Amino acid sequence: MNQIDRRRFLAAGALGAGAALTGSLANARPAPARSASEPGDEHRGPCVVASGNGVRAVDKAWEMIQAGSDPAPAVVGGVGIVESDPNDMSVGYGGLPNEHGVVQLDASVMHGPTHKAGAVACIERIMNPAAVALKVLQETDHVMIVGDGATRFAVQQGFKEQDLLTDRAREAWLRWKRNGNPKDDWLDNDQIIRFGEQQGMAPGDAGAIPFTYGTIHCGGLDGAGNLAATTTTSGLSWKIPGRVGDSPIIGAGMYVDNDVGSAGATGRGEAVIQVCGAFLAVQLMEHGATPTEACLGVLERIANKTKRRDLLDDNGRPNFNVTMYALRKDGAYGSACMRPGGTFAVRDETGPGRRINSVVLFE
Ligand code: GLY
Repeated sequence: MNQIDRRRFLAAGALGAGAALTGSLANARPAPARSASEPGDEHRGPCVVASGNGVRAVDKAWEMIQAGSDPAPAVVGGVGIVESDPNDMSVGYGGLPNEHGVVQLDASVMHGPTHKAGAVACIERIMNPAAVALKVLQETDHVMIVGDGATRFAVQQGFKEQDLLTDRAREAWLRWKRNGNPKDDWLDNDQIIRFGEQQGMAPGDAGAIPFTYGTIHCGGLDGAGNLAATTTTSGLSWKIPGRVGDSPIIGAGMYVDNDVGSAGATGRGEAVIQVCGAFLAVQLMEHGATPTEACLGVLERIANKTKRRDLLDDNGRPNFNVTMYALRKDGAYGSACMRPGGTFAVRDETGPGRRINSVVLFE
């Protein structure tokens, strides 16, 4: 879809569909029959989609589904690879910590056929929170367990407790902490004294302080038309301890309706929570939007609802990124991001996992 088509879609398509659901958008106009189409919207049949950091996840989930697995353990198994990878600093082991240097993880999973959901939030010392969320779904009457209770639940379920803060993440946290306030008692990065090393700047201090909203989302569809999805994250880096993002919130960071499709989000969780992003994407698909249109519709809603000046650029558009992912029950899929840079991963019958650029709302 080119930029002109997208503008036309944004003016009339998703907004119209969204207004049909809520009747609340002042600038909504009637939705045309169809105004946006991407290659994924034409796909049919079993499929696994994930955020761009999930190429290995979609391959693993696809293999499991092809071997007869239910899609819920398949998508959880897929994201488990990324959770366990210390080099991905947005999720699981090696994820960037909170402002106290503690890694706190959030995750959710939803199973289409039973419409059951499980989630954990602010869980510490457990590498694979999506698998713990799946245990909540499978073994309890609850939907969400948080904090110490979540860690205790995981240990009871046989998960190993371990330190999740890698040296790389700890160094990044120290760099952030040193530069936080010129008046505090920490010397800034260019002032710290190291013996036997070049004064002022140690090798590990080179480069920018990383910042991430983290997250991997993965949705899977099997040959029988059954869906499942999961979203897992270390959340906003340097967050206030106890902060929970969208990833473990059912309907925000992830949602599945087995009659319609699944959706998930990565990026600024606060914005996604405030529009019930994943639920809205599935609702838009239920009302006729393609997966790509549904993703764009959620982003447009976020843009309309973002009022804080510090979150807007000079053109009044959100200055942060959110990427949405959607998978429809028939196998159509799509993704869109607020600002350039979003990608997603797909695995289907045509070949191994591949990364695709998400459609961009604001070029
Ligand atoms: N989307 C992940 C977070 O905001 O925590």
